[in-house]
Amino acid sequence: MLSKEDINNLIEKTDMVKLVEPYTKLKKTGSGYVGLCPFHEEKTPSFSVSQDKHLAYCFSCHKGGSPIQFLMDIKHIDFMDAVKELAKINNVNLNLSTKSDNSLTYKKYYDMNELALKFYQANLFNTKDGKVALKYLHERGLNDDVINDFKIGLAPKEDNKLYSLLKDAGYLELDMIDNGLVKSNSNSYQDVFIDRIMFPILDEVGNVVAFSGRTYKESKMAKYMNTTDTFIFKKSNVLYNLNQAMSSIEQNKRVILYEGYMDVIASYRAGLKEAICSMGTELTTNQIKKIKKYTNNVIIAYDNDKAGLNATFRAINMLRKEHMNILVMRLNGAKDSDEFLKLNGPVKYKGYFNSNLKEAIDFIYDTYTNNANLNSSTQVEELKKDIYRELRTFNSALLVEKYLKKLSNLLNISYEALLNDYNRTTPYKPIEEIKIVEKTKLEEKTIYELRLFEYAKISKEKALYIDNYLEKNDCLLAFCELNQRLWVLLVNEYYSHHQEFLEDEFVKLLNENNLFDDYYQNTLQLENTNIKYTDEDLDSCLKRMIQKANEKKQDLLQENIQKATSAELQKELVLKKFKERKNKKGK
Ligand code: CTP
Ligand code: MN
Repeated sequence: MLSKEDINNLIEKTDMVKLVEPYTKLKKTGSGYVGLCPFHEEKTPSFSVSQDKHLAYCFSCHKGGSPIQFLMDIKHIDFMDAVKELAKINNVNLNLSTKSDNSLTYKKYYDMNELALKFYQANLFNTKDGKVALKYLHERGLNDDVINDFKIGLAPKEDNKLYSLLKDAGYLELDMIDNGLVKSNSNSYQDVFIDRIMFPILDEVGNVVAFSGRTYKESKMAKYMNTTDTFIFKKSNVLYNLNQAMSSIEQNKRVILYEGYMDVIASYRAGLKEAICSMGTELTTNQIKKIKKYTNNVIIAYDNDKAGLNATFRAINMLRKEHMNILVMRLNGAKDSDEFLKLNGPVKYKGYFNSNLKEAIDFIYDTYTNNANLNSSTQVEELKKDIYRELRTFNSALLVEKYLKKLSNLLNISYEALLNDYNRTTPYKPIEEIKIVEKTKLEEKTIYELRLFEYAKISKEKALYIDNYLEKNDCLLAFCELNQRLWVLLVNEYYSHHQEFLEDEFVKLLNENNLFDDYYQNTLQLENTNIKYTDEDLDSCLKRMIQKANEKKQDLLQENIQKATSAELQKELVLKKFKERKNKKGK
């Protein structure tokens, strides 16, 4: 196992100048060395290197630090890989037992997936069924090079061929099931993916972590089927094609975010190779953090339908929170980029793409103004409110002026009158104040959630009791998104391998899932509270969860009612809402 001493020794041994020199030219100063920062563009050097302190740090962008941190930042690798890299540079042999080393623990899963991948590929290119699938892919415009670049394969229509192969290769059934490739059926084993075109999902370093299988014949089955979450695959963390897109992202200093695999592939065919997508789910903070390692410039190129439009708004909000620069590309005359390419060819697509990029704010402004009937004063009022709300989030007087002027032209109302109106409905609030208000609100809202974690840490038994209770009362959804993830990590992952709660062990798991910071924030929130942990308190926390879950369900219904387009559907939902209320009262 890797010890603190090992790490300190490694750091002590490192020649900082030698480590940094490949990335930037250094100049000797009095106490150390300086150079232009390799992490950001600059004209005067703020990057400082100290041999004795073993530091390489940028005082301007704050990247770098210890040699390990420097390697993590410059190579976009995680802590363990940076340690290994440093050991290699220093000719040190690290004594890594499998226990602390993820890549070793998980190696069997990666290897198993790699084997499955080879099998699917061979099956696509060398069998009779493969011919049919290949024809389908060719007809969709993917030639063999593209098929190979994306390592696309075919799962056979027999239901246990992969199972037999993995068995022959010496894998345990339990591991095949854990890895999401095989399922058990009363007394036999069966492949999870049957007769589907297989898209492998690779992580950033190129390990195959999961698969997505698409139907290619007329079928009532779901179009895509994805590997369920496993030890090595968390759907909400993964970005499809990031591994292959990385170099283009860094070269072109931007990333294009699509809705689906086929759009990513279409983009790649058109020479826009900095293309990725989340896997049919909403963009998560974790995914954004991953993108941020490579670029701050994101282009959203979602589908050309209502769902795609709404998803674009939500993605903008998420990305804005992480201070990303956002452009939006909306299509015309095709439902998604794949279809656009099919209709117009790769050259036209690339041309259209590059000349139809809009700043997020322009996209927002145009969407609202194009959709409003300016003859209806109710709609004009709505429009005004929408635009004001958006302008507020940008917090820039410059933008306020620019867009209110635009709006004043459009509505034929004087700019002064609009500004007056805007200021009247937008009380001035300094940013700091807003933040504080939000923070206290957050505490009130989630503190009982956080208390549940404290109870769950007392013992596995208690954790399972709570989990059971939440599940039974259908109120796991009451957790905020973050706490939901933390809860799953604690109860479903941590406790399935440990009998008692050990902070250090749990922190390891948090680090692997990039959740340490969030968890730490949570614990800080509890620090200044004076909570007595009793059974009654636990009980009241659980009650609050039920209440919250019900509120959330009502909100969700209300949201759907507002979104529902037809009067029929709206009526139906209103009735449902009413009924749920009654049920609750009846209980
Ligand atoms: N998706 C999924 N499960 C489904 C449908 C969709 O996981 N049953 C995910 C896939 O990642 C898919 C993305 O959502 O790529 C977008 O869905 P969609 O636009 O329907 O698929 P396309 O990528 O356009 O695929 P195709 O063109 O083959 O229909
Ligand atoms: Mn499509």
